[in-house]
Amino acid sequence: MSIYPKAIIYDLDGVITDTAEFHFLAWQKIAQQLGIPIDREFNEQLKGIGRMDSLELILQQDPALAQLSDQEKEIMANRKNEQYLELVETIDSSNILPGIEELLAANKEQGLKIALGSASKNAHYVLDRLGLTHYFDYIVDASQVSKGKPDPETFTVAADALGIEYPACIGIEDSAAGVAAINAAHMFSVGVGDAAQLSDADYLVEATSQLDFKEIVERYRRKMALKEPD
Ligand code: BG6
Ligand code: MG
Repeated sequence: MSIYPKAIIYDLDGVITDTAEFHFLAWQKIAQQLGIPIDREFNEQLKGIGRMDSLELILQQDPALAQLSDQEKEIMANRKNEQYLELVETIDSSNILPGIEELLAANKEQGLKIALGSASKNAHYVLDRLGLTHYFDYIVDASQVSKGKPDPETFTVAADALGIEYPACIGIEDSAAGVAAINAAHMFSVGVGDAAQLSDADYLVEATSQLDFKEIVERYRRKMALKEPD
């Protein structure tokens, strides 16, 4: 039996473009104003996590801030988004990470579906700024899911919309929460980044420049072949 994947579901921030850095810089500024220093190590926990959940993780660093009202939290989250949008409004196609457009092109040429699985409310805007929207058969952003990563919903919503069974999907992620979400969806997980965070990925590369369509499909096929009864 031939085993071939039918779709690739891409994370946005940190996979397609380096907006993960902008999210970090924006949160760092807000946290600093609250008197909470956050560094890159702490930021690993925020990757892939929705806006309000990220704020909660930051506020947990200072017990004195635990009593903030929902309205105050809303104001802070909005402030963070304003910071983020200021950074993001400068991006264009030159901010697509290395190898990504080649991967999308090969993905399309080979007839596999392409979806976005993002936790960001700004996903459509960012994809448009990069000039990549036309590649996507379906886009999942934060407005379409009730449970964010590491819950599998972001990825299962994308697969359901495409009408593709979960094990025939590949997900690509730069965050531990995202890899956990792909695995929980029973999809093949590709991690981009540090093994310290992404050791649960089925296939791990250090940088997007190493994401090669043929190699990803080959790794997928190898894993599925191991599962097939002979
Ligand atoms: C994810 C990022 O894609 O989107 C997180 O990895 C970010 O860092 C989350 O917090 C929510 O983004 P936004 O744009 O809705 O604030
Ligand atoms: Mg990401």
